[in-house]
Amino acid sequence: PSALAGRHFLKELDFTEEEFRGLVELAAELKAAKKAGTETQHLRGRNIALIFEKTSTRTRCAFEVAAADQGASTTYLDPSGSQIGHKESVRDTARVLGRMYDGIEYRGDSQQKVEELAAHAGVPVFNGLTDDWHPTQMLADVLTMTEHCAKPLNEISFAYLGDARFNMGNSYLVTGALLGMDVRLVAPKAYWPAEEVVDRARALAESSGARITLTETLDDGVRGADFVATDVWVSMGEPKEVWDERITALGPYAVTMDVLRATGNPDVRFLHCLPAFHDLGTKVGREIHASHGLAYLEVSDEVFESAHSVVFDEAENRMHTIKAVLVATLA
Ligand code: CP
Ligand code: NVA
Repeated sequence: PSALAGRHFLKELDFTEEEFRGLVELAAELKAAKKAGTETQHLRGRNIALIFEKTSTRTRCAFEVAAADQGASTTYLDPSGSQIGHKESVRDTARVLGRMYDGIEYRGDSQQKVEELAAHAGVPVFNGLTDDWHPTQMLADVLTMTEHCAKPLNEISFAYLGDARFNMGNSYLVTGALLGMDVRLVAPKAYWPAEEVVDRARALAESSGARITLTETLDDGVRGADFVATDVWVSMGEPKEVWDERITALGPYAVTMDVLRATGNPDVRFLHCLPAFHDLGTKVGREIHASHGLAYLEVSDEVFESAHSVVFDEAENRMHTIKAVLVATLA
């Protein structure tokens, strides 16, 4: 059995560098086996509950396909389809589902809820995104970085531009710190992670050798970067009204070809967890773009569709990495 058997997957801070890297390595093996048609099923007869209090395309599908590939079954509980938080407490839900399922995925707003679920379920609980952390996304991003950059992880540099106070910013900072990477968060100071998160990251960096930079200056932040990443400027659960303030504050940090050129790295790669507002292709996108007279928001269509962009490898890797979490904890 794996060293992670029976463990929860709630946030990056709960793992050692070795454990986190081990999951990425396992994902690479599982990916190679699937592509070669030699995958073996380690989860036959297991049942996994997927609770989504916020919507999802990638995370839900990644859990469902990963489980099916490994012989496990899933039950999807949609944002309105369960009693959790409305008619039944998180604690009671945990105790009920823990009697029926071997593992539980949870996506919602508060980290405290997923931690509470984990405390009472008696089976491994996986964080499919909260306002604070998006740890399964980090496994996919790190796997994608190793696939697109020949350097060892602790020599790779990445710059995250945009709202760094939310799940993606926090997770990038702590993951980079854990793995000894060169992490830059590039955003107006008001959008930097909470001091407590920065302190945790700096403490990790002391042992991992990570270089941590928080800066408002775009050119300094992206210089020499192997990867440039961003995320939506307004996250799920935030009110529409914040768009105006976000566009004003984060507009200068949109990822354009000029930003990629400023890295000075002709092989720089672009990452985005998706969904992305790079064109007018969605209803929400059309509304926001039209009301502000903008052609794109956090990333230009030119960058998104360019050879620099590895966002669909990153999306595919959600499945392989989530599979690694399921196999490591439930097999
Ligand atoms: N990146 C990500 O978590 O996508 P979904 O919201 O579609 O799951
Ligand atoms: N920050 C985004 C990430 C989506 C995967 C959100 O929370 O909506």
